[in-house]
Amino acid sequence: MGKKTVLITGAAGFLGSHLCDRFMKEGYRVIGMDNLITGDLKNIESLFKVADFEFYEHDVSTFVHVPGNLDYILHFASPASPIDYLKIPIQTLKVGSLGTHNLLGLARAKKARILVASTSEVYGDPMVHPQTEEYYGNVNPVGPRGVYDEAKRFQEAITMAYHTYHKLETRIVRIFNTYGPRMRLNDGRVLPAFIGQALRGEDLTVFGDGSQTRSFCYMDDLIEGIYRLLLSDYPKPVNIGNNSEITIKEFAEEVIKLTGTDQKIIYKPLPTDDPMQRKPDISKAIDILGWTPKVDRSEGLKITFDYFKSLTKEDLYKKEHNTFEKYIR
Ligand SMILES: NC(=O)c1ccc[n+]([C@@H]2O[C@H](COP(=O)([O-])OP(=O)(O)OC[C@H]3O[C@@H](n4cnc5c(N)ncnc54)[C@H](O)[C@@H]3O)[C@@H](O)[C@H]2O)c1
Repeated sequence: MGKKTVLITGAAGFLGSHLCDRFMKEGYRVIGMDNLITGDLKNIESLFKVADFEFYEHDVSTFVHVPGNLDYILHFASPASPIDYLKIPIQTLKVGSLGTHNLLGLARAKKARILVASTSEVYGDPMVHPQTEEYYGNVNPVGPRGVYDEAKRFQEAITMAYHTYHKLETRIVRIFNTYGPRMRLNDGRVLPAFIGQALRGEDLTVFGDGSQTRSFCYMDDLIEGIYRLLLSDYPKPVNIGNNSEITIKEFAEEVIKLTGTDQKIIYKPLPTDDPMQRKPDISKAIDILGWTPKVDRSEGLKITFDYFKSLTKEDLYKKEHNTFEKYIR
C-alpha cells in the first residue's frame, strides 16, 4: 500500500506548519497550500527538501484543484488573530465560507475525509461556563469580531450539511487559544503581545481590568487532539483546548516573572465584544478521543519564550505582516 496523502490548507501558518510536520513524521505524503496572507514560508522551509512534501501557493477562496488522490483534507486556512481579521475582514469571511465550500467540493470529488478548523469564537462572549459543544453561543454578527465568528459558524453549518446530505466524512475541531513557536509576535494575540512587550522592555498592556479569563493550550497538545479527531469516527464538533483557566492580569504577571523583567502592567479600555470568559469543557475529547492536554503552562511558556528570544531584532520590532500591502486594497 502506498502512502496516504493529506492536503493541509493554511500550511505556512502557525498551526498548519506544525500539522505538516506531524503528518510528515507519521509517514504521510503532505500537500501544503497557502496564499501567505498571514503565513510565512519560513515556517515550512525545512520541508521543501523532503520528497513527500509539495507546496502550492494558492488562495483557497477561489477554485481549488489538486491532481491525484487525496485521503484527507485539513482546512486550516483563515486569518486567526483579531488584528488580522479586522484588517482583512472580507478575506476572512470568504475563506471561511467560499474557501470551505471549495474544499468540501474537493473532498467530495476525491472521496476524502475533511477536518475543518473551527474555533471557541463560535461561542462568542459565552453565557455558559465552561463551554460545552451543545452551547449555541452569544455572537454579535455585526460587531467587529463578527467577520471571524460568523465565518466559522457558517463553516460548521456547511460542513454538517455536506455530511448530512452528501454523506461526506467530516470532522470539526473547535480550537481554544493555542500558543507555541511560530506564532507571530505582532499578531495581536495576548501571549505573543505580552512576550514581545517584555522583550522590547515595554510595559505590558492589559485591556479592561484584567479579570477576563483565557485558557491556553500548548500546540503539541492541540496537534495530538486534531490527529486523534481526524482518525476517529465522530462527525460533530469537538472542543480541543486546555481547561486550566487564568485571568489576563495573572497571566501578565506570569509573563513578567518568566521573562525576568521588571515591566509594569498598564490598563487600556476593553475592545468591543471581547469575551469575558473562556474555558473549554473537554469531556467529549476525553471520552471520544482519549485525549487530555499534557503540557502545563509553565513548560509551554518557557519553550515559546525561548523561540521568541531567538528571533531577530527586525522581527521583534516589526509592526505589520509583510504581505498585507499586497492584499489590502
Ligand atoms: N491559534 C489558535 O489559537 C486558533 C484558535 C482557534 C482557531 N484557530 C484556527 O486554526 C487555523 C490556523 O490558525 P493559525 O493560528 O495557525 O493562524 P495563522 O494566521 O498563523 O495561519 C493561517 C494560515 O492560513 C493562510 N490563509 C489565510 N487565508 C487563506 C486563503 N484564502 N487561502 C490560502 N491560505 C490562506 C495564511 O496565509 C496562514 O498561513 C485558522 O483556521 C484559525 O481560525 C486557531
